[in-house]
Amino acid sequence: MSGLMTLSRFNLQRKRDYEGASGDFTLLMNHLALAMKIVSREVARAGLLDVLGKTGEENVQGEQVTKLDVLSNEMLIEVLNDLPMVAAVASEEDEQIRITRAGRLTGRYLVCFDPLDGSSNIDVNATIGTIFSIRKRETVGREATVEDFCKAGTEQIAAGYCVYGSSTLFAYSTGDGVDGFTLDPNVGEFVLSHPNMRIPELATCWSANVGNARNWLPETHAFVQHLGSGEGRYKKMSLRYIGTLVADVHRNIIQGGVFFYPGDKKSPNGKLRLLYEAHPLAYLVEQAGGKATDGVRRILDLVPNGLHMRTPLVIGNGPEVDLYAELAATRRG
Ligand code: AHG
Ligand code: MN
Ligand code: MN
Repeated sequence: MSGLMTLSRFNLQRKRDYEGASGDFTLLMNHLALAMKIVSREVARAGLLDVLGKTGEENVQGEQVTKLDVLSNEMLIEVLNDLPMVAAVASEEDEQIRITRAGRLTGRYLVCFDPLDGSSNIDVNATIGTIFSIRKRETVGREATVEDFCKAGTEQIAAGYCVYGSSTLFAYSTGDGVDGFTLDPNVGEFVLSHPNMRIPELATCWSANVGNARNWLPETHAFVQHLGSGEGRYKKMSLRYIGTLVADVHRNIIQGGVFFYPGDKKSPNGKLRLLYEAHPLAYLVEQAGGKATDGVRRILDLVPNGLHMRTPLVIGNGPEVDLYAELAATRRG
């Protein structure tokens, strides 16, 4: 590859590599990137417009909805609604799936998303993001149902995220590695900046909300003891917790590390959502050479029992994810 590699050029090149590709998928990816550029623009001037703060409503997760949650959700739905290849979408913010205008019968793709991840960081100007996941359905010709969405993570054909940080970065995978693109805000293009992202061999940090430690299970305490032992792989370990899942995971892909939001005494199923957060990020981290577990099973093997199912999540470098699973298995006897 030579010259400036924009996301659209990269996608076109990929399309040429797959014989018989219709171009539908390329168009979908370009539109997802477009939606994220718009969200990025709104995020960048959030303090100037009246988009900070909460709407006063609660979402289906029982959480306070922020104005940027609503705006990002609407933006993604609006962009996907008129694409004939998209049959339906499922959003963390909506109780039900939404059948799209253009692709309701003919669309082959289903898109799941967390439109705004890290909502609690919006008002303090810290990093937030968007996460998405794409599946193919086998029910073309009729309207998609919840059952079409509730499939294992291994059924994803692509996943990606956008991090609105010190710069805006879009990363995605179609099962052939992960590539990252930084937004050049002056020309409005995502440009390839992180080709073939691979998680470094050594984890240098761990990320968890230690405020929950009083509720943690013994395996989580044992895990933290290993990470802080200063021995073996853990000679140099820092704690880094942004509180925005996608930003914490992105940092760990770049620098090596493990993020965990485990099940605990108060919330046995953890906090994070399988379809919108755990599945897509597990897909990406595996593509970058890492692993993800709920403590017992590989995240990608989990089949959602509903759109908004939550799951414990331990994600990052393989040896650390395996260590957590081993500790949990020992505790279970
Ligand atoms: P969302 O803003 O989409 O609801 O997700 C918030 C999630 C995730 O981004 C983050 O890792 C986690 O909540 C933080 O939770 P705590 O505040 O409990 O640490
Ligand atoms: Mn989220
Ligand atoms: Mn969200």
